[in-house]
Amino acid sequence: MSGLFVTFEGGDGAGKTTQSDLLESWLHERGEEVLRTREPGGTDLGLEVRQMVLHRRGHIASRAEALLYAADRAHHIATVVRPALEAGTVVVQDRYLDSSVAYQGAGRVLDADEIRSLSLWAVEGLLPDLTVLLDLDVEGGRSRLAERTTYDRLEAEAADFHSRVREAYLALAAAEPERFLVLDASRPVDDLAGDIRDRVESLLSR
Ligand code: TYD
Repeated sequence: MSGLFVTFEGGDGAGKTTQSDLLESWLHERGEEVLRTREPGGTDLGLEVRQMVLHRRGHIASRAEALLYAADRAHHIATVVRPALEAGTVVVQDRYLDSSVAYQGAGRVLDADEIRSLSLWAVEGLLPDLTVLLDLDVEGGRSRLAERTTYDRLEAEAADFHSRVREAYLALAAAEPERFLVLDASRPVDDLAGDIRDRVESLLSR
């Protein structure tokens, strides 16, 4: 495939959208064809799946949830991303299979290797050329929010979940250091953007 596949990963609010915007503008200035997309919800079918997994009321069994994300991914890669890459486009995507491993795995019910295998089956083995992990420490992120004086059990559970997500991401990055660029998301926006551009530039000139 002649294009370049770049994905952004990280916790909610780590700055993926800001950095994707900056990368997209820089790529346009260089005259590259760029496709911005995301999961879940990068296709019409995907928008319906997104509605189900993120906004539907009521419980969804863990395996069903994992399959819904994988179904969104299968359709998105087959109908949008793969054709774009074949046409030489740079694809800049918010979230991909690492999100499934980190989030569905953090629920403690599903095994990380199984989730990864399911996604890889769904996309016929397509891995990104580069995955930018915007890493934000959970406490740091939280202390930026309004200070709380009373202990909140749900908040504490949420913090625990997010720290498992973060650990899962860091383990994925450690297992594939060639594919991942791990950045401290608390650094200044322009510094982060510069590091991302440097890496993308070296991949483009390969
Ligand atoms: P989204 O609205 O895209 O927000 P953001 O990316 O800014 O956090 O939220 C997507 C949510 O879906 C996010 O909480 C992570 C979750 N998710 C999974 O649990 N598994 C997946 O495979 C994907 C792609 C997302």
